[in-house]
Amino acid sequence: MAQTANSKYALSIENLTVQFGGLLALQNVDIAVPTGSRYGILGPNGAGKTTLFNVISGFVKPTKGQVYLHGVDISKHPPHERVKYGLARTFQITTLFPELSVLENILMAALVQSGTSRVFWKPAHKDKVAVSIAETQLHDLALMHLADKTVNELAYGEQRLLEIAVALASNPRVLLLDEPTAGLSTAEIKAVVQLVNSLPKDLTIVMIEHDLDVIFDISEYLSVLHGGQAIAHGPASEIRHDERVKEVYLGES
Ligand SMILES: Nc1ncnc2c1ncn2[C@@H]1O[C@H](COP(=O)(O)OP(=O)(O)OP(=O)(O)O)[C@@H](O)[C@H]1O
Ligand SMILES: [Mg+2]
Repeated sequence: MAQTANSKYALSIENLTVQFGGLLALQNVDIAVPTGSRYGILGPNGAGKTTLFNVISGFVKPTKGQVYLHGVDISKHPPHERVKYGLARTFQITTLFPELSVLENILMAALVQSGTSRVFWKPAHKDKVAVSIAETQLHDLALMHLADKTVNELAYGEQRLLEIAVALASNPRVLLLDEPTAGLSTAEIKAVVQLVNSLPKDLTIVMIEHDLDVIFDISEYLSVLHGGQAIAHGPASEIRHDERVKEVYLGES
């Protein structure tokens, strides 16, 4: 696949293989995510979905293959440099600071992700410009009412919303969400879907998700992983009717 800086793909993964000892977690996977699209990654437990995100964000070194962000080969870049290139992610396991307020969590994220070498967060808390940017962000995400609550005081669903807000604090062009609705109630899932659907249309979003209603609600395109292999790609409306996908994932035949 030819790549240029103006690639129509925000993210592309080429011929990706990841081997953990004797286990092939990913095998020759190719995925091309159109710029500004909502892209879902579907697949059963152990399919290699999180490993894919770990490779894209630089936490796992692939055995083989390349990762391109807007046409630039970032395969050799460490995670923090990928953030500077416009990549952000959430994790399957929550990574918030429980004793800090929602606003402080956003400020911390903005500081850390901007690569600012300030060690303490307190000066940032007094930095009126940084506070105002963080408040605007919370306001845009309709989370301003939570600003002064500590993470400890939040409901689990609110914490998952905050994780997305934290990932957005670096002002990414590509956002990776790893199972943002896992463990949530129906009402909380709705809030996550609403927040994701409210994000700017030029932000490219790649989302791992088990909840089929959510994935079909949000995604325009899907890739389906199974046993480390990408068994189907395409528009969500087509994948829904793909015989192989129905068989191995949707449990139909
Ligand atoms: N760092 C690692 N070292 C060794 N094996 C790993 C490592 N990370 C993942 N694996 C294995 O690779 C396979 C794929 O794991 P991965 O976490 O990518 O799956 P997943 O599709 O995200 O599953 P889930 O839906 O349960 O989150 C699994 O068999 C897992 O045990
Ligand atoms: Mg996973």
